[in-house]
Amino acid sequence: MRRESDAVSFIGLGYVGLCTATVIASKGIKTIGVDVDEKRIEQLRKGNPPFHEPQLQQMLKAVVRKNRMEFTTDASKIAEANTTFITVGTPSKDDGSIDLTYVKKATQDVGSAIAGSPVYHLVVIKSTVTPGTTTDVVRPVLEAATEKVCGPELGLSSNPEFLAEGSAIKGTLQPDKIVIGALDSKSGATLTKLYRRIYSKTKIPTVVTDPTTAETIKYASNAFLATRVSTINTIANICQRVPKADVETVAKAIGLDPRIGPLYLKAGPGYGGSCFHKDLQALISFSRSVNYDPILLSAVEEVNQRQASEIVNLSRKLLGSLDNRRIAVLGLAFKKDTDDMREAASLRVIDELLKNGASVSAYDPMALETARRVLPEKVELLPDAISCLRRADCCIVMTEWDEFRRLKPSDYKSTMKAPNIVDARRIIKRDDFEGFNYLAVGLGTSSS
Ligand code: UDX
Ligand code: UDX
Repeated sequence: MRRESDAVSFIGLGYVGLCTATVIASKGIKTIGVDVDEKRIEQLRKGNPPFHEPQLQQMLKAVVRKNRMEFTTDASKIAEANTTFITVGTPSKDDGSIDLTYVKKATQDVGSAIAGSPVYHLVVIKSTVTPGTTTDVVRPVLEAATEKVCGPELGLSSNPEFLAEGSAIKGTLQPDKIVIGALDSKSGATLTKLYRRIYSKTKIPTVVTDPTTAETIKYASNAFLATRVSTINTIANICQRVPKADVETVAKAIGLDPRIGPLYLKAGPGYGGSCFHKDLQALISFSRSVNYDPILLSAVEEVNQRQASEIVNLSRKLLGSLDNRRIAVLGLAFKKDTDDMREAASLRVIDELLKNGASVSAYDPMALETARRVLPEKVELLPDAISCLRRADCCIVMTEWDEFRRLKPSDYKSTMKAPNIVDARRIIKRDDFEGFNYLAVGLGTSSS
């Protein structure tokens, strides 16, 4: 019988797959990365990641140089590993429900690769999938493709990830928890052992449960975080209408309560990114399919959608009509330190500004290339903050980039037509901005 290999493979080298695979390879474990995208594979072989993520490029180059990581479009290579993580995307269908096409296809590919092999192989579903998917959808596809039954010869487990963009490498090196949803005890033990090898020196809190509960944990996590953001934005919107009330101080104070805690209490233009909206929609749709209408989650999403109008209304308060006014949008990425604009609040704000007849200039330190692809042509993209501000009637600070914190009052005064600022992220030290017309999310003014 062939000896079990120590290698692991990943199918799907997007954000989650690539960051996780690179960290595992950096721990000295042979890692095989499979993706259908040939261009991406070519780039990865040279050690170049297809997206920006702090520490990733350096780590990737090192593991490629040391031959610890191999990249291929050939899924049959999976047979050289004994554990495969499925990390393909799980997009939304038009009705918000989850599209499992890629997960099924990847499962089929893994199954075909390991069919006929006498060696035990563990398949791990890391893609975010709705409760029951691993047992009810993945398992039958895997068993049919391998002609084996899950159990002593074939392992299957759910293992959700909780990585946030911008800290994905740090989050993989030091996760706050590991969640293992094992179909059977051998699958659970195999995955636990692998994680012990990866985190040999550190003890990471590990929750071992069944696959369906593990899948639910991932959605619960994003639902809670998104709910916190919509809750603080709701409080911000109330503050805005009450003279002198300030959501910053409110958040700071309530965050001192250990039952609440300080994180995810930053009011802003609404959450964006590839996960919160997609996962909330998938959970809402799933929940309805099991005859429960999760009205709380629908409200979280609605508050988030409407938050863009709250920001646009602040600029309207400063300018009156927006028709033919020039608005400078500073920041396009859904948060700082990323070039990602998926579901970014800037998209909703810009759309509403344009619909109201405004002309828009925009700048982002990292996301200009992305913006060129996703924003309408009439949005003028500028190479720096100063040119973006030039001749603007109002500036909206949309993303909390450090670069924008460093802008001085004179940078605005010397370039803009009028000193009107809407701070959608609360990054401006307003005491330094005397003489400006300054409105901010969650800051009550006497004219509110
Ligand atoms: C991940 C998770 O897997 C997703 O479920 C979670 O909700 C968010 O994080 P992400 O890493 O962002 O998704 O996925 P994406 O950037 O879309 O990358 C998926 C990769 O899989 C792409 O490189 C794509 O080419 C590849 N792929 C897709 C395959 O290799 N095979 C397929 O059949 C489909
Ligand atoms: C999120 C989850 O944090 C992560 O665990 C999951 O795996 C994927 O989804 P990510 O989308 O990368 O990660 O970003 P995150 O840092 O959570 O921020 C999401 C959005 O919420 C951003 O637009 C951010 O600006 C916004 N946000 C976050 C706030 O407006 N206020 C806050 O206090 C925190």
